[in-house]
Amino acid sequence: MKTTDIVILAAGKGTRMKSQLPKVLHKLAGKPMLGHVLDAATTVGDSKKIIVTGHGAEAVRALYSDPSISMVEQAEQLGTGHAVHMALPELREDSKVVILYGDVPLITPDTISQMLDAVDNKSIGLLTIQLPNPQGYGRIIRDANGQIEAIVEQKDANPEQLKVDEVNTGVMSLTSQQLAEWLPLVDNNNAQGEYYLTDLISIARKAGYSINGIHPGSVSEVEGINNRQQLAALERVYQAQLADALMVAGTSLADPARFDQRGTLRAGTDNFIDVNCIFEGDVTIGSGVSIGPNCHIINSTIGDGVEIKANTVIDQSTIGDRAILGPFARIRPGTELGTDTKVGNFVETKKAIVGNGSKINHLSYVGDAELGEKVNVGAGTITCNYDGVNKYKTQIGDNSFIGSNSTLVAPLNIGDCGFVAAGSTVTVEVPADTLAVGRTKQRNIQGWKRPTKK
Ligand code: UD1
Ligand code: CA
Repeated sequence: MKTTDIVILAAGKGTRMKSQLPKVLHKLAGKPMLGHVLDAATTVGDSKKIIVTGHGAEAVRALYSDPSISMVEQAEQLGTGHAVHMALPELREDSKVVILYGDVPLITPDTISQMLDAVDNKSIGLLTIQLPNPQGYGRIIRDANGQIEAIVEQKDANPEQLKVDEVNTGVMSLTSQQLAEWLPLVDNNNAQGEYYLTDLISIARKAGYSINGIHPGSVSEVEGINNRQQLAALERVYQAQLADALMVAGTSLADPARFDQRGTLRAGTDNFIDVNCIFEGDVTIGSGVSIGPNCHIINSTIGDGVEIKANTVIDQSTIGDRAILGPFARIRPGTELGTDTKVGNFVETKKAIVGNGSKINHLSYVGDAELGEKVNVGAGTITCNYDGVNKYKTQIGDNSFIGSNSTLVAPLNIGDCGFVAAGSTVTVEVPADTLAVGRTKQRNIQGWKRPTKK
């Protein structure tokens, strides 16, 4: 069999989420649950993905309009067997099919591959797990030889069957031909009046196939989400796994329970991350990096030996080796800090290219600006990049010194080794090696009397 089709059931309403949003679009680690399932499915070489939508179909379709993904709609939720039946027209003739669930987000590529390997001309695959509390799940019934014989749903089970602690995770693998043959045989004569996908197990046995029972690597892989408490609990389980992987790779965490990764995080070795940091989107950090508490880093690249102090936010920016940031720095999109730069407390940058060794240590706004090397920007300096209609650029040459509380009105060029006196408002070009004083001269009034209270 050459092709793989992956059917993802996502039609359920998710009543207990109490939400306008379809359940499968609620986020785990910053990504919709369905997105996690799709990503795991995508790692299986050349698979076609078919999502069975129902409640909130529009929203699901809008989010995943990828050519490798087909959508089929199950207008009425008549059971899991009925849901897979809806996908039949999208299945390819000679493919292996794995059935996954949009609200079971942490299934791994490894388990999906094992499920595919479990399908051959004599067997189909079923993912089962032993649970200390099997309440609510379909029970796995094995025959005298220990072979899987059937699945009995909780509501249809007798007291003896209810004692079984091996349960159906719902994940099944078989061929498209078998589905086409067997699904029409499924009826709804059961306690819930639903078409059960699970009936395929006894049907397969009757047709002479055996059931290959596969087990997931961990319970989290098959944990389904029905409410917000379960979602929050699974989030922590997943974050603990991500934190673990990071530590294994050589980064220390002050507290793995207070770490959040919402996307991909690549990191070198010998980094230290203090508590309550959030990494979002695509983040790369080098080696020997120290990140203080409460930092938020989004889609950014951090060089080696960088020190990021508490409460710093970095968004869509690049930070050069050995830079020192914060505490309380806000690095906005398009910032590129060179090596050995310093951006201190209450400094905001945006689209700012800052050359090697330059410093903006306190209370400044530097936006739409290009600073050369070894520039010193004094406290309270503002680049006035906006005239209310258009944005303009400020350029500052190497080794320049901008005195404190200067207002640099863009468009503006300051040449190399330029010097701006503190408190200046600079509106015209400052040539290289020039001092600009843009303020009125101080007057002292002798014998001046303070006002008195009337
Ligand atoms: C199902 C299994 C049960 C298993 C359990 C694991 C059946 C009959 N039972 O029970 O053996 O232990 O999952 O969690 O399959 N769905 C649709 N369309 C439908 C019905 C369901 O898309 O018509 C989707 C739901 O959105 C949900 C999933 O299928 O994501 C499972 O449906 P649910 O009704 O929750 O099945 P369970 O009763 O939990
Ligand atoms: Ca049900």
